[in-house]
Parts: sequence; C-alpha cells; structure tokens
Amino acid sequence: MLALNDLTSDLAPLLAAIEEQLNRFTSPCEGSPERLTSAIRYSVLAPGKRLRPLLCLLACEAVSGDWKAALPAACAIEFIHVYSLIHDDLPAMDDDTLRRGRPCCHIQFDEATAILAGDSLQMLAVQVICQELDAQPARESLRILSEAAGRGKLVGGQQDDLAAEGRFGPVNMAELTPLEFLKSIHRRKTSALIEASLQLGGVAGGASLDHLRSLSDYGMAIGLAFQVVDDCLDVESTAEQLGKKTRKDSELGKLTYPSLLGLEPSRALAERLIGEASVAVAVFKDRGLRLARLAQFVVERKV
Ligand code: IPE
Ligand code: IPE
Ligand code: MG
Ligand code: MG
Ligand code: MG
Repeated sequence: MLALNDLTSDLAPLLAAIEEQLNRFTSPCEGSPERLTSAIRYSVLAPGKRLRPLLCLLACEAVSGDWKAALPAACAIEFIHVYSLIHDDLPAMDDDTLRRGRPCCHIQFDEATAILAGDSLQMLAVQVICQELDAQPARESLRILSEAAGRGKLVGGQQDDLAAEGRFGPVNMAELTPLEFLKSIHRRKTSALIEASLQLGGVAGGASLDHLRSLSDYGMAIGLAFQVVDDCLDVESTAEQLGKKTRKDSELGKLTYPSLLGLEPSRALAERLIGEASVAVAVFKDRGLRLARLAQFVVERKV
C-alpha cells in the first residue's frame, strides 16, 4: 500500500511518532484479555494511511508552529476511526472481508471480538484524552470528538448510509433531494471526523476562534472530497491497490456520488472542494503549506 510518506517524505517523522504512540496506547493492560488486546492491535497497527492523525498534527503545526502537542489527540482520532472501520466491515453492515490489505477484524478473530474491540477503541480515545491533556483542552477535545463520533454525525451517517440501500424499507430522505441526502450522509459519516481531526489539532495548539473556523472550513471540504474519492475508487480501483474489496457499493446498492452523478462530475466536485480547502488554509501562510499539500493528496490518491 502506498503510504503518505512516499508522497511527501517530510511527513516521515510525524508518521513515525504516530505509530510509536498508537503502539504505546494499545499495549496490553490489566484486565484486557489477550484475544481482545490482539484484535485491537491487529486493527490499529495495520497499515492505514493515518490521514486523520496527520491532519490533527498539521493543524496544530498551522496554529502553533509545532505538531508534537497534538499527538494524544491524533491517536484518539485514529482510535475512533479504526473502531468505525471494524464495525463498518461487520456482516450486519457492509459485510466486508478485506481491510488495510488484511482480513477484517471479524474474519481474523470473530464477530463478538470485533464488536468488543471497536467498543474498546471508543473508550480508549476518551481515556487517552483525559489522561494526556490538561483539564480545559481535554474538555474541549471531548466535546468536539463526542459530537463528531455521535448519533448526529458519524453514527447517524452510517445509519442513513445503510437506510439508503433500502434495507429498512422505503428511504426517508427528510425532504431532501437525493443529492442533498447523499451529501448529508457523507458529511456525517466521514467528513465530521475529519473536521474534528483538524479541530482537535487546533485546540492542542491553542488556536484562536478564527483559526479554528478556518481549520473547520478546510476539514469539511477535504472530508467531503475524501468520501467522494472513496466512492470513485470503489468503482475505478482494485482490491490489490486499495487493500479493501472494490465494487462493493454497487453490489450493496449504496447511494454514492458516482452512482448519482457519474465518475467525471464526481471527480470534478472533489477537485472543486480541494480548491476551497486550499483557500481556507491560506490564512496560515507557510505554516499551512503542509495542509494544502495534503489536500491535494486527497484527490490524487490511489489508496
Ligand atoms: C476509509 O478511510 C473509510 C472512509 C471514511 C472512506 P481511510 O481510507 O482513511 O482508511 P485507512 O485508515 O487508510 O485504512
Ligand atoms: C465508511 O464508509 C465510513 C465509516 C467507516 C464511518 P465506507 O463504507 O465507504 O468505507 P469503506 O469503503 O468500507 O472503507
Ligand atoms: Mg460503509
Ligand atoms: Mg464499508
Ligand atoms: Mg467506501
């Protein structure tokens, strides 16, 4: 799998620090059965792109000039992300078998262990923030994270993603057009956590309200673009390249951007969103350059 540091070698120290901390926070602990710890580490330490933790560190860098203070928040975000992937792959949801180039957690272990590994990761995210941050940034970070990962955002988006397949009966689009409904699903299931990654990095760096707003604008734009491109790659790419099965969305009858708009208009939309994202971080001048470059990766990525 292509890693982000193949693209921009200067990200290597950040990626190494993320890996080190993910490893540390998931090490065995008193009371956690070996099978549960193994499933957690299997999923977390698998070769993901680490896009969300990187965004978190680079947001901190953009507002403060240094990224290290955001490492605990970066790990917390990745834990929420990995839990969402483990549960997304379950037979009751997208019923996948391959993730990050390896068997999904519920295939490698079993369904119950996969559910419990996901449950553990949600609480590990909370624990790391409470343990590693001072009271005020911890409170603010938990507010942002719990909202983004909650029923109004990530979980609600996942529920409507499944509902849009028609599996719960006639689809209730809440008076939205299909395109508006799809955008709302993608904003909630994917873009909210990406936006939260930026916000948490901003909080760790002591960002002003104006700067937090710019980070949010950037996060919302690349978050939506990221899921639009994910939908496109499901059509265009291969399992070998992506590390997960392709053509799954049409198989399941998912509502996606290529199914609604076609591939070319979907890619054009992603490009437009990346343009918006780059404008949003121009306010950070040189300190925001790495965020601007990462935005470009979101549309150009092959994995
Ligand atoms: C996959 O996310 C799930 C989506 C929101 C599209 P990533 O493509 O970031 O997955 P990893 O972390 O690299 O495995
Ligand atoms: C996943 O969307 C979004 C979350 C996990 C919250 P997808 O179902 O499209 O992600 P992949 O394609 O399985 O990675
Ligand atoms: Mg899904
Ligand atoms: Mg899926
Ligand atoms: Mg997908």
